[in-house]
This record gives sequence, C-alpha cells and structure tokens, in this order.
Amino acid sequence: MRTQALLDADTVESLLAAAVAAPSIHNTQPWRFRLDPHRQVLEVHSAPERTLPLTDPTHRAQYLSVGAALFNLRLAAVHHGRRPEVRLLPDPRDPGLLAAVRLTGPLGADDLPSHPALHEAIALRHTSRTPFTGRPVPEPIVARMVTAAHAGGARLHVPDIVGTRRLLRLTAAAEARNHTHPDRIAETLSWITAPGKDARYGIPVTALGPPDAGGRMPMRDFTGALPVLRRPALWFERHVQLALLWTPHDRREDWLRTGQALQYVLLTATAHGLRTSLLHQAMEWPDLRAATALPGHKRCHPHMLIRFGYGRDGARTPRASAHPAMRAAAAPRPEVPPATGTRTI
Ligand SMILES: Cc1cc2nc3c(=O)[nH]c(=O)nc-3n(C[C@H](O)[C@H](O)[C@H](O)COP(=O)(O)O)c2cc1C
Repeated sequence: MRTQALLDADTVESLLAAAVAAPSIHNTQPWRFRLDPHRQVLEVHSAPERTLPLTDPTHRAQYLSVGAALFNLRLAAVHHGRRPEVRLLPDPRDPGLLAAVRLTGPLGADDLPSHPALHEAIALRHTSRTPFTGRPVPEPIVARMVTAAHAGGARLHVPDIVGTRRLLRLTAAAEARNHTHPDRIAETLSWITAPGKDARYGIPVTALGPPDAGGRMPMRDFTGALPVLRRPALWFERHVQLALLWTPHDRREDWLRTGQALQYVLLTATAHGLRTSLLHQAMEWPDLRAATALPGHKRCHPHMLIRFGYGRDGARTPRASAHPAMRAAAAPRPEVPPATGTRTI
C-alpha cells in the first residue's frame, strides 16, 4: 500500500476551516480538535465549557453539531485526496473523545465520493432566517436530500400539508414554552452578540431573522426579554417546505451519525441553490420531541426540522479559527519527520 505524505500545516488548516464552518446550536462550536501527527489522526473532542445545560441537558444537540463538523472534515479530507477513516466514540474510557479520524492512505472505492459542488457548499451554506419565496422545490432535489440523509445513516421525512401543520404547531408550542422560562431565555440570550461587539462564538444580531407577520412560522426568538433587538415582522412563505430528520435508535453514536446526515442534507440543498434554516425548539422538550415522531412508527427518534426553499442567503456568523498550536503540530513544508505527542486547540 502506498504511504501517504505527512499532513502539512496548510492541509490541516484547510481541514479544520472546513470542519468549523459547520452549523452548531446557538453557534456554540462545541468541538475541540487535537492532532496526533505521528499517527496522522485528528481527534474530535467535545468542548464542555460550550454547552447549553438547560436547552440541551443530554448533549444531543451538541453531538449533532459535532457530527456536522465531522462530515465537513471528511469531505475536505477527500477533497485533499486523503482517506478519512472515522471511528466514533473510539475510547470508552474517554467519553469526551467523540471521534478519531485517521487520514492516511489513498481513497478507496467505498469512501465518500469526491464531490466538488458539495465541498464548495461548505463555505456557501449559512442559516437563512428570512422569508423564502414559496417557490416549490423540484421533486428530484428533495429526493437527493432524502438520499443524502439515508447515506449519512439517518432518515428524512418530507411531510404533506397536514403533517407540516402538525410539526409547525408542535414547534410553536415549544417556542411558547421557552418564552415562559426566564432561565432558558437568559441562556439563549447569552449566546447573542450585541451590535458592534466582536465575538468568535454565538450569533450576531445581524444573523437573526424577523418574526412572521402571519404568526404561522414559529422561528426561534433569540432576543427574549430584549425586544429592542427584535426585527420588524415580515410575511413568511405560505407553503412551508419542511423535512424531519430522524433515526430508529437514539444512542450517542446515532446522534453523531445524524449530525453528519444533517450536514449532508444541508450541503446537498445548498449545492442546488436552496436556502435552509433549522427549527429545533420542539426537540428540546421531551414530550414535544416524542410528539413530533411519525405517527405509526414504533421506533422514530426525531432530531431536527429542516426548513428549505428559495430566498435570500443568511448572514455570516463568526467562527473561532484553528489555534497556532495546531499548525505547529502539523508537519511544516517541506515535510519533515513529525514530532511525537499531540497538540490541542
Ligand atoms: C443542533 C442545532 C440546532 C439548531 N437550532 C436552531 C434553531 O432552532 N433555530 C435557528 O434559527 N437556528 C438553529 N440552528 C442553527 C445555528 O444557530 C447556526 O448553525 C449557527 O448560528 C451558525 O450559523 P450558520 O448555520 O449560518 O453557519 C441550529 C443548529 C444546530 C446544529
């Protein structure tokens, strides 16, 4: 077997830039990377200081976020001609180690296909919280999103009008509940960046959307007790196009797989010119999450509602970039034998 050249600093930086472009709940970016240059392994760890104890006590949303970053990392590795061998939760003694990605060897037939449009979509995708035009998305594009979810190890259900109304109702119920919990309001607000402030984590007010003037679209209100930050209401699309991402099991590894599937779906949509936004509120209340399950399915664990359509691009949100230590851990150009040990960002 051909031995792959050592990972150089530019490649590592490019892989990490792709990984951190992933969506994450409240833009918490709840990941941390560590490079073992000797084994050419990139470890993905959770960042316990960037969790949401009230909104996400089980850390399911955190795992979805990390899974999305992992999918970007895999795509970027393939783009660089590297074979990403992923092990989820590789060490039972280290629960914070969520994945180990070995980046050696040439690509094999069973790897994620190199897909330039999907790779390009990593940088193009932004959550879009403004009204969509309502133009129907052609069936073949929706079918590709469903296939992407499946390939990523999850399922994507596209409901009819009655099902869509049901899911919106449950999301509205969750949103109403959030409003009556001052602690949750405060937790969410603590991840919103005030105008003029510079921050690497959290959502800037410029990326927030308006409420629906028609009162039908339960977009998340991030502004809570500070209505001064709230935008004037606008009319949202009449025919909402939604998809429910779910899995038949609900273990930690399923959450990591679902995050990868989520990102596969979002990038597929983006590559076809669609905009997306996420409605996760109902998943944050156990009874409402259970109620979003598909009727008649014995084992349906819902994870996310994806709203998709045509419309304006979402505003950019900031990201924390790779720490210089990470560059130092990678081989400099020209490549030299690596230092032993691991470095963390
Ligand atoms: C698990 C998860 C849950 C999310 N829930 C919501 C949500 O309920 N409402 C919303 O507007 N955005 C939601 N988002 C989107 C994030 O706020 C967004 O990804 C983050 O702010 C980064 O922005 P970007 O997606 O434009 O890169 C969610 C993202 C993830 C991964």
